[in-house]
Amino acid sequence: MAGKFNDKPTWSKPMPVHGQGIFTFNITRNNAFMIKITKASATDDIRLTVGLDSAEFGITQNGQYSKLDGTTETGSGYDADKKISYWFSYNRDSLVLKYGKGYTMEETTELVYDFLAGAKTSKEQEAIREKYHGLFNAEDVGLVQLFDTAKPTANAGSDLIDIEKSVSFRKNPFICNLSPFVLDSKQATLFTLDNGNYMLTGSLPPACKELYDNICNTDLNWPPEVDDVLLSDAIRFSIETKGCLLYNKLQEKTGEFGPDSGAEETYLRVTLGHSLGNSPGIPYVLEIWPAKHYSPIHNHGNANAVIKVLFGQINVSLYNKQTMDPKAKPEKSFNATKGDVTWISRDWFQTHKLWNNTDDYCATIQCYNFDAGDTTHWPYFDYVSENSTIEEFLPDSDFTFQDMRRKVLEEYRNNAGRLNQSQK
Ligand SMILES: [Fe+2]
Repeated sequence: MAGKFNDKPTWSKPMPVHGQGIFTFNITRNNAFMIKITKASATDDIRLTVGLDSAEFGITQNGQYSKLDGTTETGSGYDADKKISYWFSYNRDSLVLKYGKGYTMEETTELVYDFLAGAKTSKEQEAIREKYHGLFNAEDVGLVQLFDTAKPTANAGSDLIDIEKSVSFRKNPFICNLSPFVLDSKQATLFTLDNGNYMLTGSLPPACKELYDNICNTDLNWPPEVDDVLLSDAIRFSIETKGCLLYNKLQEKTGEFGPDSGAEETYLRVTLGHSLGNSPGIPYVLEIWPAKHYSPIHNHGNANAVIKVLFGQINVSLYNKQTMDPKAKPEKSFNATKGDVTWISRDWFQTHKLWNNTDDYCATIQCYNFDAGDTTHWPYFDYVSENSTIEEFLPDSDFTFQDMRRKVLEEYRNNAGRLNQSQK
C-alpha cells in the first residue's frame, strides 16, 4: 500500500526530544501520505503510511522496507476533503508506535505496534533493543518528515496547504489517557499516585492550575442566608416558577443554538468579574443547568478550562476533534457531582457536551484562560449545529452574579411569603 512517494519531503523537522514525541499533522489530504522517522543512519527509518481506509507501520533497514503491522478498518486512513489531525506517537524507551486521528487518546488510536510484544524474557527484550537501537535511542535527535504521493489526483493540488502552522509536536509519547477529574496534590496518597484516577493539581498545565487555585474553594451557598434562605433554593424556585427571573430568561433563550435546537438545549450563564482579555469571554461563569437541559457539542477555542460542580450533578460527554454529527457517539462519558472538579486543555477533553440528566437543576462554575503560548485567543466556542455544521458561539452573559443573586433571593422571599399567606 506504500505507493510511490515524492523523493523530497513536503515538510521536515527534528524531533522535540531526542528520539521521542507525538507528531500531529492537522492537514487535509486526498491522497496517501507518509510520515517517516529517521535517525543518524539515514538508510534506516520507521514509516507510518496512511491511505484510504488503511494505515501501516513499516521499517526500512539496510535499504529494505518491511511492513510491521497495518489496519484496513473503515475510517482508519485519511478522510478526503477534511482537515484532520493525524498523530503519530514514537516511544523510544518502550519501542511502541501509535497512530490515531483527532485528539491523542486511547479511544482515537487506530494502530499500535509494540516491538517488544513478542519478547518473553528480559534477554529477548535486550536483543530486540540492541537490534533496533539505531532507531530508538536518546543519543541523536531524529528527524520527522512528511511525504506526499508523487502523482496526486487532479484536486490534490489543494492538499499541499500551508501546513507549517498545522504541525504540533509534543515532547512525550502517548502512553495512556489522563483522568478528567482533578484532585488537589495535597490530598494525594500512595493509592492516588498508583491508580491514576485523578489528575493531580501539581501536574495540571500551569494555566489550569491557576484557574483551579482561584475557584477550588467556591461554594454556591456562601454566605448562608441569615433568615435560612439558601441561594440554591432560590435558584430552583426561580427556574421552576412562571414569571420569575430564571424561568423567563430560559424561555427567552430557547432556540439560541439555532431554530432546530431542542427546547432543553439551553443553560444560563451568570458571569463573575470582567474579561481580562485572556479568555473567551469573561473567565469566571456560574452556569445553571435546569433538569434535562444540555449544551450542544462544542469546543472551547483551544482554551484551558476548569469546571467545578457547585450543586447537583452534570453528565460530561467527551468527543473527538472535528466531530460534525450532533448525534455522534461520545468517546467517553461520565457524571460529575457536587464538589467534583474537571479540567480541559488544548489537547485534553477540549470538545464536550454537558447534560443535566437528573431531576433537579445543576450549577457549575466554569473558568477559562489561554495558554501563555496561545497567540490566537479565539473568542468563540465552536459548536456542532443540528445541521452538522460548525457554528460560532460568542460566550456572553445572561446576568451578573450579584445582580442575579439579589433578585432571586428577593423573589423567593416574596413568593414564599405569598405561599404562606395562601395556605392560611
Ligand atoms: Fe463547555
